Amino acid sequence: MDRKWWQEAVVYEIYCKSFCDSDGDGIGDLRGVMSKLHVLRDLGVNCIWFTPIYTSPQVDNGYDVADYRNIDPAYGTLDDFKELLDMAHGMGIRVIMDMVLNHSSDECEWFKESRKSKDNHYRNYYIWQPPKEDGSEPNNWGSYFREGNGSAWEFDETTGEYYLHQYSIKMPDLNWEYEPLRREIYDMLNFWIDLGVDGFRLDIFTRLKKPEGFPDTKKEPDPLLDRNGFIVDTTMCTNVEGIHEILHELYTEVFGPRECMTVGEGAGVSHKNALDYVSASREELDMVYHFELSSRRTYSISADHFRKIQSEWAGVIKNNGWAVQYLSNHDSARQVSCYGCDSDEFRADSAKLLAAFIHTTPGTPFIYQGEEIGMVNVKYDSIEDYNCCYTVGDYNAMIASGVSPKEAIDTLAPRSRDNARTPYQWDATENAGFSIGKPWIKVNPKYKEINLEADRASDDSIFAFYKELIKMRRENPAIIDGDLTFYLDGHEEIIMYSRACASQTLLVVANYSGKTVKFDIPKEIMDCAWTRKLTNKKDTDPSLDSLRDLLPWEVEIYELVK
Ligand code: GLC
Repeated sequence: MDRKWWQEAVVYEIYCKSFCDSDGDGIGDLRGVMSKLHVLRDLGVNCIWFTPIYTSPQVDNGYDVADYRNIDPAYGTLDDFKELLDMAHGMGIRVIMDMVLNHSSDECEWFKESRKSKDNHYRNYYIWQPPKEDGSEPNNWGSYFREGNGSAWEFDETTGEYYLHQYSIKMPDLNWEYEPLRREIYDMLNFWIDLGVDGFRLDIFTRLKKPEGFPDTKKEPDPLLDRNGFIVDTTMCTNVEGIHEILHELYTEVFGPRECMTVGEGAGVSHKNALDYVSASREELDMVYHFELSSRRTYSISADHFRKIQSEWAGVIKNNGWAVQYLSNHDSARQVSCYGCDSDEFRADSAKLLAAFIHTTPGTPFIYQGEEIGMVNVKYDSIEDYNCCYTVGDYNAMIASGVSPKEAIDTLAPRSRDNARTPYQWDATENAGFSIGKPWIKVNPKYKEINLEADRASDDSIFAFYKELIKMRRENPAIIDGDLTFYLDGHEEIIMYSRACASQTLLVVANYSGKTVKFDIPKEIMDCAWTRKLTNKKDTDPSLDSLRDLLPWEVEIYELVK
């Protein structure tokens, strides 16, 4: 089967605001990215994903777009972006943009017009509903962001109607039922493709379609989520019938003819419904990333769960779909702190083990900035130092219910999105080499030990291990095409799997724990001859039978000798 470029790719996510600041205003920018592109080329990634860099009031760090055709002045100009595109393309790196199509900012011209009058040309770009007879909200939906009275509807005095906002009051939902809005979006997507972008990451695409008549949710109130009787029900606007028509039209109007790659943020997508979105014959999206493995709620993955989810998604690929492999991004905490071990002793080894999982399981690996140097979670003492709206909103709610500030921070810090959003740690100089100004969010105090320069200087470099894995992807067909088979089912610490295609078989053996583990290698594996290709424990015996004793967080990759 002919492969598509994005099946061979390794994608690197850039959170521009925290990547590299070239002008000292404390905010990362495009010139900063340009100054570091050579590092990414050296790492070997061949695609970068920019989280939103459009003009935005930054209520949700750019996911509230005010002008879909321009770059936020804090990041640079359109000309800077064109220069960056040329530079990246010159290095063989493709560029994909984050597209927020569920909502815009209330400062977007479309919304400013829409709220002016009921007969404004832009009125139906958004979702307006009259109040109920008693003047109250059209239904009982709560918004994801804790704001106002908690409703997902905001009353607008000028026209006496409510508009829908699943997220912030300042992020009104767009109305995909309305054809002129859809045309406007297609033109805008073409604008970016004409500039040279290679694809899009589609923000919360499963929520574009809303249920007809906006019925009340029947979900029981959840004391942790409830807002004054308004109920946060993620299912109400997720995977609603009609969503596939919207995506198919996007494909036939833009993505297909322009041959651009799409990856969707799959809230509400599991291996069960994935093929409805990503099966090639559906002509909707190329791939989605799901939350079945890396979930913001639990932040732990058992060996059994890993085997189960990976096997199920391998099935999606076998049926002509595709998958994304990742463990963290700008919406999560740091993967080494959640799923590995961020102690001095095991940070590097466990960061490498997690990397090996992402790069050797079926699908396209997505790296989140800083992961390749083992950046860890942060903990601030004061809520003043946090920026993430969920952390701050939940904190205020906890304080209001009588929880102490310390307890609130202790509870919220490990899962705050700010863990991933602290500035990139380039070196041990002030502000980790991110900016000569005051960073928009505090640098992780661990930057003196954990930074790119220190990592690369060590003979145990995590960066170098990522480089090896990325190189392996280019040189070993089994990593992309190989069937996935797990061994040692039920084992609590050892994760062992092979990837086999016609020309090659690879074997990955990992001790997913902080203790030394003895185990028996299955006979069918021991009956063959293997050669070691990669390890995170360099001084160990490279022959397979020595592996009966696996060191804490040890990971080994072998190839079958034919
Ligand atoms: C997505 C983004 C997240 C944002 C939300 C609302 O989940 O990844 O950062 O807050 O959408 O746009």
